Amino acid sequence: MCGIVGYVGERSALEVVMGGLRRLEYRGYDSGGVALIHEGTISSAKKAGKLLNLDAELKANPIADGTTGIGHTRWATHGAPNDRNAHPHLDSTGRIAVVHNGIIENFAALRAELEAAGHEMVSETDTETVAHLLHDELESTDDLAEAVRSVCRRLRGAFTLVICDAQRPDIVIGARRNSPLVVGRGKGENFLGSDVAAFIEYTRDAIELGQDQVVTITRDDVVVTDFFGEPAETKEYHVDWDVSAAEKGGFDWFMLKEIDEQPQAVADTLLGRHSIDGLLQLDEMRLSDDELREVDKVIVVAAGTSFYAAMVAKYAIEHWTRIPCEVELASEFRYRDPILDRSTLVVTISQSGETMDTLMAIRYARQQRARVLSICNTNGSTIPRESDAVIYTHAGPEVAVASTKGFLAQVTACYLLALYFAQIKGVKYGDEIASIIGELEKTPTGIQRMLDEADQVRKLAAELSGSRSILFLGRHVGYPVALEGALKLKELAYIHAEGFAAGELKHGPIAVIEEGLPVFVIVPPRGRDQLQEKTVSNIQEIRARGARTIVLAEDGDDDVVPYSDHLIRLPRVPTLLQPLVATVPLQIFASEFASQLGHDVDQPRNLAKSVTVE
Ligand code: F6R
Repeated sequence: MCGIVGYVGERSALEVVMGGLRRLEYRGYDSGGVALIHEGTISSAKKAGKLLNLDAELKANPIADGTTGIGHTRWATHGAPNDRNAHPHLDSTGRIAVVHNGIIENFAALRAELEAAGHEMVSETDTETVAHLLHDELESTDDLAEAVRSVCRRLRGAFTLVICDAQRPDIVIGARRNSPLVVGRGKGENFLGSDVAAFIEYTRDAIELGQDQVVTITRDDVVVTDFFGEPAETKEYHVDWDVSAAEKGGFDWFMLKEIDEQPQAVADTLLGRHSIDGLLQLDEMRLSDDELREVDKVIVVAAGTSFYAAMVAKYAIEHWTRIPCEVELASEFRYRDPILDRSTLVVTISQSGETMDTLMAIRYARQQRARVLSICNTNGSTIPRESDAVIYTHAGPEVAVASTKGFLAQVTACYLLALYFAQIKGVKYGDEIASIIGELEKTPTGIQRMLDEADQVRKLAAELSGSRSILFLGRHVGYPVALEGALKLKELAYIHAEGFAAGELKHGPIAVIEEGLPVFVIVPPRGRDQLQEKTVSNIQEIRARGARTIVLAEDGDDDVVPYSDHLIRLPRVPTLLQPLVATVPLQIFASEFASQLGHDVDQPRNLAKSVTVE
């Protein structure tokens, strides 16, 4: 939440900072702003709303450019999303400019103290207090980094701060606690960003910053210390994607591009997981097989769409390994006093690697001595760094706020984890595991087919775009798919959409079915477990009450034909793998539905990607 950019170099800082903000806009789009150092003064512009508004403002009232600058795109927490509360915030002399991501929890006390000392605040934000505190610190030291460290020691809560000082034209300082910040290393230039997308156009060499660290960038140097000025350890890494991955590439929306990339995302997540002897290997796994053999309970913790991947994981882990598995919303986990010990493995799932609820769950679990393994898509992010082990999904950068390829890659990684457990616990023969992997390796073809057959889904979305309520039903792993279908529609189309376990409908929700209500039903593959038959009965029950049924069923399942107003065919896959193909038409439906209503598909209202507040 909130995107931050900092730059020191020889290029136009305005161009670099605005370019970085454009690529970070998915992190928040309530307002945008820049501050640049020009001949010993700060020139700054800020505007409420999307960056287009800031672009227009800069065109109407150009500001002096420089080669050092900072910028911000906001997801509002303290203070309404207006021009006044937009970042950067300046001290009263206009010498210091500050941008911030996070929440400073003790800001009210700090603000009262500053006001009592005669400082005049012009915004309602917590951020502005930092500019004033720095102003005071700089009365007693010339060292900007020391002043920042001293202020950071006084702050509580979560913050990434990026700061520039008109009197030090070739320095930008960053500080982080609980919110993300990475360094981009260039030649004769250096960058700061909430994530690497901020500077990917210029460099793919990045430095991960740790908790409670302050970084000073100049053209040629990067110096990192802790909040007390002691040199700090950092980790350098090379980003394995380039700027083209962070661009729309001819698609109208990032979301459409990301939906289209799903066969690759799944294939890349599966890639290189076999050792020479045919065994499954997870090479980012920092837990030994012996440690994993000790595990007698798994708890999968995540938020939003990632939570639905966690629900799929539960089915796979319990079915394939017989290890008891719970799933828990990250925002609830640490407040219910969960029973954890050394033999509990907490698995967290996060596309961004920065979700605060999930990060707090990890810290809590580790305090209770549980081991934590994270499934994550973002190298260099906080969650993998704070976990005992990590399995990276290889979906590439996800820019659209609504997660799509991130989800499919997460589900794939969950299957890999479950199968790995089955292998090391010896509860499945090698050829059984190899056969499931073989099925998994076929799914990119099935996903591609769903993409190729998307026209019928788009037509359906256009037809139904007047609906104000749509339901989604599923059983078994089709249940999380139903929940995900409903979430996508809610967040993009802003209509009422709800997912239910199909068997649960008769216990109450069936009362909402009325003539013409569209209901999607994900039908499990036919098998020994009667799941398909039971779901077909559920379709009959709702159709008898007037629902307009949109049925997703595998090829050859003719039982559903008499009860389907619309039938979307799915490729045949084993039951547990069905989410990989069944989710795709629901994503396409939601994006098309939102387009029909004229909504911004990539940046839905009130939302931001990477939720770094609790
Ligand atoms: C929905 C969506 C969110 C995220 C959730 C967790 O489309 O994207 O619900 O899934 O905020 O985010 P991560 O996976 O980054 O932890």
